[in-house]
Amino acid sequence: MGESQLRVPLLAANWKMNKTVGETLSFAGAFIPEVQSLLDSQDPWPEILICPPFTSIPALSSALASYPVAIGAQDVYWQEKGAFTGEISPLMLKDLGCRYVIVGHSERRHVIGETGELVAKKVRAALDAGLKPVLCVGETLVQREQGDALKVNADMTREGLSLVKREESSHVVIAYEPVWAIGTGKEARPDDAAEVISHIRETVDSVYGGNASEDVRVLYGGSVKSGNIRSFMTREEIDGALVGGASLDPVEFARLALTVLRARPDRRAR
Ligand code: 13P
Repeated sequence: MGESQLRVPLLAANWKMNKTVGETLSFAGAFIPEVQSLLDSQDPWPEILICPPFTSIPALSSALASYPVAIGAQDVYWQEKGAFTGEISPLMLKDLGCRYVIVGHSERRHVIGETGELVAKKVRAALDAGLKPVLCVGETLVQREQGDALKVNADMTREGLSLVKREESSHVVIAYEPVWAIGTGKEARPDDAAEVISHIRETVDSVYGGNASEDVRVLYGGSVKSGNIRSFMTREEIDGALVGGASLDPVEFARLALTVLRARPDRRAR
């Protein structure tokens, strides 16, 4: 598999429903000194993304404005504006300086009941607003035990990309997050994650023809921490990680950033 220049490693934090504005500012104040030596050096820097709750986006954006850390949201509605009580539009996120948005996280699919059709519309709406969607896919434990993991992830990938044109596909990040590995402390075996991610890439190629997947970053997520991230990052199929619990601690998140950087010195963001 050839490696595209576009596939800069990406370390993404999903804070879920955690941190008040005050706690967000404390995180920023503690995180920056942890990575200052890296920022000061001319070494390559992986792309770092933090997706706090909507309420913390402005504070985090200002606190990290002069650092190479992108801000994203955890969800978005698919319409630009209107009578949709409680929803947030892609333009509103763009207005706050967001560059990414997580779409179709398993907690939204399984806890809130979001459908694949809705997820596809959200991916489309994000791209229309100039946001990069982080499309989450992943099988449940039952689906894995029934031997359906590859098929489920291929189907979710196909549906999530159904409204995306080939020339836009490099702006989509796919996150493979097996549902049984999320928040359980039981990460996938790197071989299993790499197998599913290879299959996701084959699916992207079959959707668009040719080798479109060479420009699409695919992350692994599910119980990633500083003690195991290296085993994922050394697999060439895996372009980064989407981290929940371990991203809440600034020292641990800085360790993750340094490990992603060291595991992939060949690919740079600057
Ligand atoms: P954990 O890292 O807490 O398992 O969560 C993963 C996740 O859901 C990130 O989106």
